[in-house]
Amino acid sequence: MTKAPAHRMKTTVGIIGGGPAGLLLSHLLDRAGVDSVILERQTRAYVLSRIRAGVLEQGTCDLLRAAGLGDRLDQEGLRHSGVNLAFQGKVARIDLEALTGGKVVTVYGQTKVTEDLYNARDSAGARMVHEAKDVQPHDIETEAPYLTFEHEGLAHRLDCDFIASCDGHHGIGRQMIPSSSRNEFELRYPFGWIGVLAKTPPPNEELIYASHQRGFVLCSMRSETISRYYLQAALQDTPEDWPDDRFWDELKQRLPSEVSATVIEGPSIEKSITPLRSFVSEPLSNGRMFLAGDAGHIVPPTGAKGLNLAVSDVKYLSDALIAYYRHGDETGLKSYDRLALSRVWKAARFSWHLTTLMHHFPDEGAFREKVQKAELDYLVGSKAAMTAFAENYVGLPL
Ligand code: APR
Ligand code: PHB
Repeated sequence: MTKAPAHRMKTTVGIIGGGPAGLLLSHLLDRAGVDSVILERQTRAYVLSRIRAGVLEQGTCDLLRAAGLGDRLDQEGLRHSGVNLAFQGKVARIDLEALTGGKVVTVYGQTKVTEDLYNARDSAGARMVHEAKDVQPHDIETEAPYLTFEHEGLAHRLDCDFIASCDGHHGIGRQMIPSSSRNEFELRYPFGWIGVLAKTPPPNEELIYASHQRGFVLCSMRSETISRYYLQAALQDTPEDWPDDRFWDELKQRLPSEVSATVIEGPSIEKSITPLRSFVSEPLSNGRMFLAGDAGHIVPPTGAKGLNLAVSDVKYLSDALIAYYRHGDETGLKSYDRLALSRVWKAARFSWHLTTLMHHFPDEGAFREKVQKAELDYLVGSKAAMTAFAENYVGLPL
């Protein structure tokens, strides 16, 4: 326990969490002349070592480019004009670009997005505190909220006008909304994903989402020489249950033979297990504190909407704060919940739907399997259904 009097700092927006949401918010505010400070619990190296999904919607890329963050994205990002769904031994391609009037997705790892954001923040001389311990919001329902935290053994206090809780699912911000006025909606799926990164070329130049009785498979990539795979696994599994040989063997069994013939095996360079769930907390604000990104909602990774939702939340929130400081206009702040939640729920619906469409549900029997197959058949055989899929996959308007 430190007893020293608090060192006081002041800023306009105090941001808890230096993941993609917090970094992007700080960047967008700074471009409009609004000052912020980021308090991040972990070290920068830790934040940059996290491996997460890697598909950016058209609107996410447009926003990053408009915010001056597009250089490496345009050099290294892989532009995907289509995506593949595999089932019953066959592969069907959905032409995203043709079905959406020219929109595409870009494969670009979240780690790179985070690095680009850190570089931009560094060049702008941003104030960021890493290894900030015990961050606590105070007085969020007043006009003078503040954050307290510990850093290098000293107590600190950050006075601000607004607090942005960008501190992920296990953060402190959401807990500050009284449980009497907080509604949490959660769905846990009876399986997880084991993810493997390998230094081998991906089997196809586009992503393949494959449904199989043995379980779901996703063939993704980070570059032309690095593949990223995911397999549906039992909830209790650990990476140790999945030595490389078992992983490759299972992967090939679940893919149509034309795809498994092109899988190039190699040693894994990363392996991890994630349980799948959907979670939305309402409301996303209380007084002068606003939640953005994983702090307010989690989607299962099927469809890769997590980072894209963090970006849309941050767009709405930064627009609202900027309008407030430029014109004294509070309408954006008042409508943040409505705007953000409306988009969040649509992505929650799509991620849930794609998850239920593609996975094997161990306890749900033959009727469900028949309906699932019928739905997949319908999806890849109907232009209307493919258009609806494509519109959601490339991202609904921001
Ligand atoms: N104090 C300070 N920082 C905190 C605290 C806390 N009490 N709790 C959490 N953090 C930090 C975490 O260490 C992390 O760096 O907040 C950050 C939250 O970052 P993310 O979890 O990456 O969440 P977000 O920025 O909303 O990005 C969403 O990340 O989880 C993926 O799928 C998700 O791609 C999406 C993206
Ligand atoms: C990934 O490349 O990590 C990825 C791609 C698509 C998804 C999920 C994850 O739906």
